[in-house]
Parts: sequence; C-alpha cells; structure tokens
Amino acid sequence: MQLTQKEKMLLQDQKKHEEMCVKKYNEYANQAQDPQLQQLFNSYAQAEQQHLNTVNQILSGQAPSPQQMGQQQGQQQQGQQQQQQQQQQQQTQQPGANASKKDADLCNDMLMTEKYVSGTYDTAIFEVTNSQVRQALNHIQKEEQQHGEGIFNYMQQNNMYNPS
Ligand SMILES: [Fe+2]
Repeated sequence: MQLTQKEKMLLQDQKKHEEMCVKKYNEYANQAQDPQLQQLFNSYAQAEQQHLNTVNQILSGQAPSPQQMGQQQGQQQQGQQQQQQQQQQQQTQQPGANASKKDADLCNDMLMTEKYVSGTYDTAIFEVTNSQVRQALNHIQKEEQQHGEGIFNYMQQNNMYNPS
C-alpha cells in the first residue's frame, strides 16, 4: 500500500496524538483518586495503544485488518454493555461519593483531548485514498467519541458535570 505525502504527514500527526493519549491516560490513571476512574482511564489507555498500533501499521504501508476496521461488532457491543452495566451498578451504590476536584480536572482535560483528537481525524479521513484505511480511521474516531461519552457519563454520575 502506497501512501501520499499528505497522508503520511497527517498520519504522523495522528501518531503523535495517539502517543499523547496513551501517556495521559496512563498518568491520569495513577493520579486519579476514585478507583472507578482509575479503571476507566486504564481501559482507555489500552484502547489508545491499539490506535497507535493501527496508525503505525498504516504508516509502514500495511493495510489494516478487519478488526482494526471495527468489523467485529458483536464482541465490542458486548463489552460496551458490560461497561454500562458496571457504571449503572456503581451509580446506584454511591452517587457522587467519590467525586474530587482533582479527578474532575483530569476528566475535563481528557474530554478536551478526545474532542480535539476526534476533530483531527476528520481532517485526516478526508485525505485518505485507500478505503480500508478510511474505515480504520473511522473506527478509531468512533472510539475517541465513545471515550468522550464514557467520561461524560462518569462526570454526570459523580456530579462533576451538569448540562442543563
Ligand atoms: Fe485514540
């Protein structure tokens, strides 16, 4: 698979973004006070590492696998449902009990980061020639938005974010 100069340039940017996401989620998992938030950040750090692997693979000229294009929907949805159930259980147990200002700052920072990174995928996707690469980047972007949703829900449950 041959990449254009523009694709290479944009993918190099995405690589940097993904590296920063892995780093931030790992660091913030250590800094978070609430164990539930630590767990959330750790699971997102792993997802970001997979994004980084996918971007690196594409940069090396290798076409993405079906899995990297998000074509194993069944398993993913199951995982999401489990996560939602966990969140709901935790919500009924202790609403807002673990909220701290520091954790709220970490959440706001990651929400801003995900929003930014999701936006940069828009720019990259529109320049991509290969349809499999487009699908892989679409899949990554969707996961960034899912991370945003997970953090948003966590913040709502812990009284950190109340859109009215
Ligand atoms: Fe990512």
